[in-house]
Amino acid sequence: MTEKARIAVLVSGGGTNLQALLDAQQSGILHSGEIVLVVSNNSKAYALERAAKAGVETAVRKGPAFEDELRALLQQYRIDLIILAGFMRILSESFTSEWPNRILNVHPSLIPAFCGKGYYGLRVHEEALRRGVKVTGATVHFVNEIPDGGEIILQKAVDVLPGDTPEQLQRRVMEQAEWILLPQAAELVSKGVKA
Ligand code: GAR
Repeated sequence: MTEKARIAVLVSGGGTNLQALLDAQQSGILHSGEIVLVVSNNSKAYALERAAKAGVETAVRKGPAFEDELRALLQQYRIDLIILAGFMRILSESFTSEWPNRILNVHPSLIPAFCGKGYYGLRVHEEALRRGVKVTGATVHFVNEIPDGGEIILQKAVDVLPGDTPEQLQRRVMEQAEWILLPQAAELVSKGVKA
């Protein structure tokens, strides 16, 4: 059997996408990679509890030395692949250039719509509703020096329904797109990393 890609997941909040990855590991959808570390820049992130419940090691790192401390952790845990799952901090160009095609991000829109600096979390859905689009969705992409600008790996469209609130739209995009796409992309890339 080939070795599994060692995955670190970076989180900031509720961690439903992390949960989707952990569940995918349980069910076997994600089998070419293994989540060995969850790093949060927010000590109150519920994602940390989800990781602990699944028996995955966690670390909290924040402040100006974040990236240097992250580098040390990634080395310590011999990480092959980084997944941003609701991680609300932009990584610097010097950091992303060290991990070409080795950082994945899930974004809650059909890139290139409603993406880039300032578009994160609920804001993305508020803007989609304000613009009046009838279809939105989610994108999993590689991370490079341009926020939400790296190569697209998977995308899935989701309908906007009349009367949607940002929260309702966010939930539908998660259920119908993010929680499906992120584990699929994680498997796809993990397979390549160790091939
Ligand atoms: C998700 O919708 C994710 O796509 C989005 O934040 C939410 C995090 O939820 N990420 C971004 O907007 C990044 N630009 P979660 O913590 O429950 O996974």
